Amino acid sequence: MIIKSNTEPIGLLDSGVGGLSVLKELYKIMPNKDYIFFGDTKNLPYGTKSPEQIFSFTKEILEFFVQKKVKNVVIACNTTSALAYEQLKECFYNKLNIFPLIQLGAKDAVSNLKDGDTIAVFATRATVNSKKYTQEIRKINPKINVIETDCTGFVEIVENRLYDDIHSIEFIKSKIDAVKKYNVKKIILGCTHYPYLVNIFKKMYDVEYFNPAVFVAKAVKAQIDTPDSLNPNMSFFVSENPQAFRLSANVFFEINTDINLVDFSKNLSSI
Ligand code: DGL
Repeated sequence: MIIKSNTEPIGLLDSGVGGLSVLKELYKIMPNKDYIFFGDTKNLPYGTKSPEQIFSFTKEILEFFVQKKVKNVVIACNTTSALAYEQLKECFYNKLNIFPLIQLGAKDAVSNLKDGDTIAVFATRATVNSKKYTQEIRKINPKINVIETDCTGFVEIVENRLYDDIHSIEFIKSKIDAVKKYNVKKIILGCTHYPYLVNIFKKMYDVEYFNPAVFVAKAVKAQIDTPDSLNPNMSFFVSENPQAFRLSANVFFEINTDINLVDFSKNLSSI
């Protein structure tokens, strides 16, 4: 159901800084909108949580967005898109338009591939176990081979800025080496934290890295009717440790404004 909007901000949610890689793509093609970003740093990482936990965390965030007059929400998190989108859509059907990342982005990954080609997906454990990428790709072309790789640990490297750590490099290399032997046509960055690591990946394996957010941003632009803001603005909220969020974000996305701490156990109306 499409809801008519006026100057409502576009909401984005993720477990942490990863979702900023989606905000970056939206901002590139829609710089004149207002955005509200929520990083659920208290509950990070989502990739090792159950579908019930992820639904419960993200439902609270969407309720927060409703209070903030958001009408359009981009789930800037693959794990949430894989595990909780259907339930969230049902729950907020008359309040929010919700844009999921995998369902909107996966098809573009394979549009130029042919039968028998192989594509790899790097993602969190929960996303890999859901097989959501494989399902979405098979809807487009059932003859494409999909290798989904559990990259649990990559999120912590990004959130803790461990880019130069020897163990991080060795760990990343082990994941890259595991897909190299399949001669893949491209690797899908199936977690929004991974665009932060793409320069490291490229040094190890020079193949195409596909970021679904680029295509999702175009799909969102095509579907929303929010008028441009006269004074475009971005606001940032986290559930824990705003200082660490700013430091980790700045590697990729400079935040020059306040990062607000939200405690859902307190009354939301006081925020
Ligand atoms: N960035 C998110 C994703 O795209 C969540 C990562 C996590 O917290 O495990 O899946």
